[in-house]
Amino acid sequence: MDSVSDYYSAIQLRSDRWSALREVTASLGREAPSKIPAKLRARAEDLFDSLALIEPYWAFPGMAAFDQLRRSFNHNSFEELAFSVHRITRALTTGAYRRRHIPLERENTEAEEHDDEALLSAEMRALTKPYFEVLIVDSVSEHQERWLKMNVLEMRRAEDPFIYEAVVVPSLEDALIAVLFNHNIQAIVVRPGLVLKSKLDNEILTKYLNRAGTPDALDAMSPEDYGPELCRLIQRVRPELDAYLVTERSVEDIAGMDLGICRRVFYNQEDFLELHLNILRGVGARNKTPFFTALVEYSKQPTGVFHAMPISRGKSITRSHWIQDMGAFYGPNIFLAETSATSGGLDSLLEPHGPIKEAQELASRAFGSKQTFFATNGTSTCNKIVVQALVRPGDIVLVDRDCHKSHHYGMVLAGAEVVYLDSYPLNEYSMYGAVPLQEIKHQLLKLKAAGKLHRVRMLLLTNCTFDGLVYNVDRVMEECLAIKPDLVFLWDEAWFAFARFSPTYRQRTAMRCANNLRKRLKSSEQAAAYDKQQKKLKDAPDDVWLKTRLIAPPKARVRVYATQSTHKTLTSLRQGSMIHVSDQDFKGEVEQSFHEAYMTHTSTSPNYQIIASLDVGRRQVELEGFEFVQRQIEAAMSMRRAITSHPQLRKYFKVLTAGDMIPDNFRQSGVTSYYDTEQGWTDMWDCWEQDDFVLDPTRVTLAVGGTGWDGDTFKTEVLMDKYGIQINKTSRNTVLFMTNIGTTRSSVAYLIEVLVEIANELDDLLDDASRMEKLAFEKRVRNLTENYPPLPDFSRFHEAFRPDELTSEGDIRTAYYLAYDEANCDYLELDGSLKDALDAGQEVVSASFIIPYPPGFPILVPGQVISKEILAFMRALDVNEIHGYRADLGLRVFTADALASVPRVMPKQAAE
Ligand SMILES: Cc1ncc(COP(=O)(O)O)c(C=O)c1O
Repeated sequence: MDSVSDYYSAIQLRSDRWSALREVTASLGREAPSKIPAKLRARAEDLFDSLALIEPYWAFPGMAAFDQLRRSFNHNSFEELAFSVHRITRALTTGAYRRRHIPLERENTEAEEHDDEALLSAEMRALTKPYFEVLIVDSVSEHQERWLKMNVLEMRRAEDPFIYEAVVVPSLEDALIAVLFNHNIQAIVVRPGLVLKSKLDNEILTKYLNRAGTPDALDAMSPEDYGPELCRLIQRVRPELDAYLVTERSVEDIAGMDLGICRRVFYNQEDFLELHLNILRGVGARNKTPFFTALVEYSKQPTGVFHAMPISRGKSITRSHWIQDMGAFYGPNIFLAETSATSGGLDSLLEPHGPIKEAQELASRAFGSKQTFFATNGTSTCNKIVVQALVRPGDIVLVDRDCHKSHHYGMVLAGAEVVYLDSYPLNEYSMYGAVPLQEIKHQLLKLKAAGKLHRVRMLLLTNCTFDGLVYNVDRVMEECLAIKPDLVFLWDEAWFAFARFSPTYRQRTAMRCANNLRKRLKSSEQAAAYDKQQKKLKDAPDDVWLKTRLIAPPKARVRVYATQSTHKTLTSLRQGSMIHVSDQDFKGEVEQSFHEAYMTHTSTSPNYQIIASLDVGRRQVELEGFEFVQRQIEAAMSMRRAITSHPQLRKYFKVLTAGDMIPDNFRQSGVTSYYDTEQGWTDMWDCWEQDDFVLDPTRVTLAVGGTGWDGDTFKTEVLMDKYGIQINKTSRNTVLFMTNIGTTRSSVAYLIEVLVEIANELDDLLDDASRMEKLAFEKRVRNLTENYPPLPDFSRFHEAFRPDELTSEGDIRTAYYLAYDEANCDYLELDGSLKDALDAGQEVVSASFIIPYPPGFPILVPGQVISKEILAFMRALDVNEIHGYRADLGLRVFTADALASVPRVMPKQAAE
């Protein structure tokens, strides 16, 4: 049997164990009991033993049924056993148990086809009541457990919108394992009888408990505190769930306690109806989609359309002689739901008071923000809104140079003075990493020394990066606040919306860290630690500040914004994005300017279908985000494992690990890879808790230099043209495979098949190759894997755009508009006049953004001095699109006269 360490998650383990048991019991069923090989029997025993550790946490098939299976096995009733195990496995795979009772007895004549849920139409599925499980935590006898479950069953009413089953576990530890493992659980009832320790003890359970971070202090806790503590612990790992605490303690005792995710306290143990109604209401609150529901209702109303929207109600299509195919392709509903705020009935995105407002509030709860705003034109727009709302002309902003182009344009619009921050380079793979905290602190300290700290407004970073590098968000914010206590943070989480729904990932999201920081800054421990550190740092030089892990002062303001392309990682139509805010000064200082910025960039005709999809996407993640993200991680992990351990694939490909993409000094845990062929999985939790950077394993970067193809050729000519596999990003010698919440095990299997086929074809090709051909292949591989052009840093802004030499901020807006006058610009050819000018030591300054796509961040911005390294990099670039560069003309640069014409006194200095 595979070892537990071969499995990244227990969901897969469980499903594989049941499949294995089905195979084994089917074989047993075919043999006469006296002829059963001992090995087969032992294998069945093993599988029963391992499932016995997992099944107590699930309602279906339930321990009573499981014990019955075991009895059938012990009594050699193999045919009966095989039948029941087959039924269970099938019901688990199709999800049939969610919709109806699954009879396990052979004599039950219900037709097998009824099991086939795949035959259910989408409409039928939409009509069935959603199913979930309720975890009851109480140390009870078997008899009492039956009584509890019976009481729960008796509460069911025909009008209930959902249906649920109960799972009973005895202890706090079991409850934590259950919520981390059983994604069907939506509510927890904590009863006074719970104990602390689990009676089950095995590797996988320990792994789960570690993830919940159970503090050692639990052992010293008095039993009456287990209930409240459990509610607090669950909040850390599954904040979206509802808990109900049944207690015998006095109201006064409970009042004022931090009860985590507890929604209500019950003082009467036997009030099952009240509990039932609360459970349904709690799940109903997450299931609610105010805007989607309003839009569906709207589309049912008969209305005459007398405003500018001919497509509304499909009128311009149904009456057409030429575009009927559009109506046939999309179906009627999409047009029935096409509407706008001005046509009445629904809310307005620009001034929401009704269902859009409510939908945004629900999204705010789901993503842990204080305010959430929807956007219907992507995070590109969200970024510009946040920058415009917060940055005034002349404010200094520290910007990750490799961030998405929308930020750079945002800086131009806002008139910011930009300090570009360099990411560490990954020369070997021709990609950038992320910005080290030292670099950020270094720039802040320089600005402080130059007396400019008061003008520093914002730090802007990408979390996670395109390639999956994730910051230690908490640490970055705390250390920066120690230098600049009112710094505003904008975290571009375009790729990270899903992170909120995995306990491991969540701890590195902007909103979670902002909320933690708010709490921490209020604590007396923080104040004491800060005072102590300040005494030590008094008069200390900058290099001591750089080396010290700084503590933020209690007076620091937590001002955090996150922009998220919901459409990139969760269910939403294209361009559906959100802005999440956790800013203590939002109401006092920003609300008005935020409103103006929102008005500046938001269309007055926002697409309501997009808004509805954001609302539904939020419902999904609140109810099943945990499950979907876990499955996604699992699919990515199995992909990493399959490629890493396949001997044929290892010849030509390499999956880049955390060790490949994050230098040692940023990986305090010392973990280099989440999967090792010898040791299996490393628990990611440790690295995600402490390292400066971690790698999001759902983004799989594959080094393909060993195939002799560069990334772009591999993507277009091999993956796309030959196998129909689409990917988004490549570098000189890598391709990036992104998984998402829709990625299935079969799509991963297909990819692996394709890679194996490519490797086999390469083998064949090399087998038959002439010596010359072999040499040429080796040369190509060497060129891709050994000779790599170094990645240039941001050079600097030209003096014309800098107030002084002390610090590096530049006035990108002046440079940008200077280029509007064609007379200020000239064109230089990369291999000709530009090279000659640089060789002659001339200073050449870019007049445009030069943005290779992908990945879509600039290697030159207006006003930036062009270095020889940048020229070398541009010449080696292997992408088809370079925005801002015209191959027929050359690179657009400023003339010397134009640079000399820029007034030297910067407006903000005059204002100071
Ligand atoms: C880091 C980052 N931010 C923002 C965006 C823009 O997002 P959207 O496509 O939603 O406009 C992208 C797009 O790829 C991105 O990679």
